[in-house]
Amino acid sequence: MLRITMRFSAQFLDELRARLPVSEVVGRRVKLKKAGREWKGLSPFNKEKTPSFTVNDQKGFYHDFSSGKHGNIFDFVMETEGLTFPEAVERLAREAGMPLPKVSHEDEEREQRRKTLHDVVELAAKFFEATLASRAGARARGYLADRGVDPSTQLQFRLGYAPPERFALKEHLGKEGVSVEDMVAAGLLISGDDIPVPFDRFRDRVIFPIADLRGRVIAFGGRTLEKDAQPKYLNSPETPLFHKGATLYNIANARAAAHKGAPVVAVEGYVDVIAMVSAGFEATVAPLGTALTAEQLALVWKMADEPVLCFDGDTAGRRAAYRAVDIALPLIRPGKSLRFATLPDGNDPDDLVRTGGRAAAVELIEAAKPLADVLWMRETESNPCDTPERRAALEARLGEVTATISDETVRKYYRQDFGVRLRNLLAPAPSRQAQSGARGGRSWGERNWSGSRSWNDRKPQGRFARYAAPPSLASGTPYLVASPQLAASAVHRGHRGAIPLREALILQTALNHPWLLHDHLEDLSGIEFRHPDAEKLKLALIDVAADRGAGDGPHDQAAAGIVMREALIQRGFAEQITRAEKVITTVSVWGARPEAGSDDALMTWKQLIALHRQWHSLLRELKDAEQALGRETTESNYSWLQDVKARMSAGDGTEALIEGFGVASGRGVQNV
Ligand code: UTP
Ligand code: MN
Repeated sequence: MLRITMRFSAQFLDELRARLPVSEVVGRRVKLKKAGREWKGLSPFNKEKTPSFTVNDQKGFYHDFSSGKHGNIFDFVMETEGLTFPEAVERLAREAGMPLPKVSHEDEEREQRRKTLHDVVELAAKFFEATLASRAGARARGYLADRGVDPSTQLQFRLGYAPPERFALKEHLGKEGVSVEDMVAAGLLISGDDIPVPFDRFRDRVIFPIADLRGRVIAFGGRTLEKDAQPKYLNSPETPLFHKGATLYNIANARAAAHKGAPVVAVEGYVDVIAMVSAGFEATVAPLGTALTAEQLALVWKMADEPVLCFDGDTAGRRAAYRAVDIALPLIRPGKSLRFATLPDGNDPDDLVRTGGRAAAVELIEAAKPLADVLWMRETESNPCDTPERRAALEARLGEVTATISDETVRKYYRQDFGVRLRNLLAPAPSRQAQSGARGGRSWGERNWSGSRSWNDRKPQGRFARYAAPPSLASGTPYLVASPQLAASAVHRGHRGAIPLREALILQTALNHPWLLHDHLEDLSGIEFRHPDAEKLKLALIDVAADRGAGDGPHDQAAAGIVMREALIQRGFAEQITRAEKVITTVSVWGARPEAGSDDALMTWKQLIALHRQWHSLLRELKDAEQALGRETTESNYSWLQDVKARMSAGDGTEALIEGFGVASGRGVQNV
């Protein structure tokens, strides 16, 4: 049996086998007699009187009927002389007069080097982990806590922190005896001809270690703690250990979880993986800053027949989904496909899990759509087919795109499916009902749009119309593309709850009193909102304020508020503004209103920010308490949890009073 090893190339081994017939190698130990095309002899493995040992030089094998042993020249030498495979190869190569391949040494060196680099990267991972846990990591820990990544999750994912100094890691590894050359090879330093002194690649970043299939750390992703630092994520470069397009974040854990039956999910970012895993989807992976590659698809297909791809609910995410469709089509096979989960507008899985919890994640994954639906949607959603030419164009496009499916059977079924959908899409409503019962009735979609060959095996359309037509078409308007927009999914509607009152009030105050942002911008940038829309609007407010130097606008407050709103609307935040304002339905806080004087506005602002901070830290404490209880069911952990909950509901009471601020400060309560 041929064993593949790193040391000898297949060519070298083939060549050796060609030079050394089995009969020659075996013949040195066993007396062989020609018997037709084969050789026969007494078994070297068993004592016997009649020969049952045969050798076939054409096939390159021996077979021993007495013991059932079977193999090639290498097996024979290993078996009869107790050598290892490389020893057997070396012995036989010497006998055949073949020089041992030089490559073997290079391979050995490369292998050795890889081992070294693994050690180096592991040392770096430990350093980052330790730094996160140390005093220097306080801010990073705070950042992670604010993002809802609790300490046990930080440990689980071996998250770390790279300190801001230029040589922190370099010095640390140096002390461990690692050469600068190895640090560079491992991708840990920035170096180059124009850089006299190589320095740490990752500085002042939260570190996400990237592991290979065996769980060994091979690279890092680093996220900046600063709001606007570029790039947001910095990844290790390509190294002998790390090939971006060929690996996935969390692949080792995901594979283990998938093995136990967890659904396989691919998301876009590191934090999304962590959020999904925390929500119970342990077989979640993400590409590493590039679009999903064919190689990465192959990896997820090894884990599941129909992995779910889950892209962010924005234009980029949708584009990424459509690109994934194109990459997948040539690769899909019978039973092997993809499903696509659709996130609400502007959300990523991290947002979703934080606002909707595990239930939202479950709903998201369960509502994932088949690849065929997404492809159909892509081809039809923005292209009206209200003229014969446009219908023909659609038909042609569908023909082209299905032609990229390389599996013949899958392609056939796609064409059938799309034929039915097309017919339903283009048929005028009245005749549609009549058609669904009429087998073989003629219509647009039945016509061949890609050459007659592939349609020969088509079944009468009525049978397929029953299950292949999307339900929305049943009541559709004739000649109208009825594909529902991705964004309008049930998930979308289900998890876009209202912006919490406090968050809305903070935003409203800032909107109406932009001058607050001049002196109190840190207040705003230092807090995080739970609702994604609120958070977005907050960032935009900061952005606008920073852009123009807050307070430099019109002196008149009402005018300043209007200018601020206009700037935000220009940046596309009209919807978020409406959403924030819609929340305040009954009475308004006086200080938040445009008419309020600056003292009132400031006081309201301070109270709101303080309440928000309080709430946030309680929320964090709640998580800690819940976790402590989960780890250890003790009386004290239980009463801790009760205590946090009590303080939270007391806080809710205070919060309910927010609406009374106006009254408390002696102003009239106004209806909105
Ligand atoms: P996103 O920009 O969607 O970031 O990038 P995110 O995951 O939501 O990040 P947070 O929530 O702001 O922390 C998705 C993924 O694209 C890669 C990273 O792998 C990231 O997780 N990326 C993004 C980069 O490699 N570099 C970048 O500058 C940005
Ligand atoms: Mn995110």
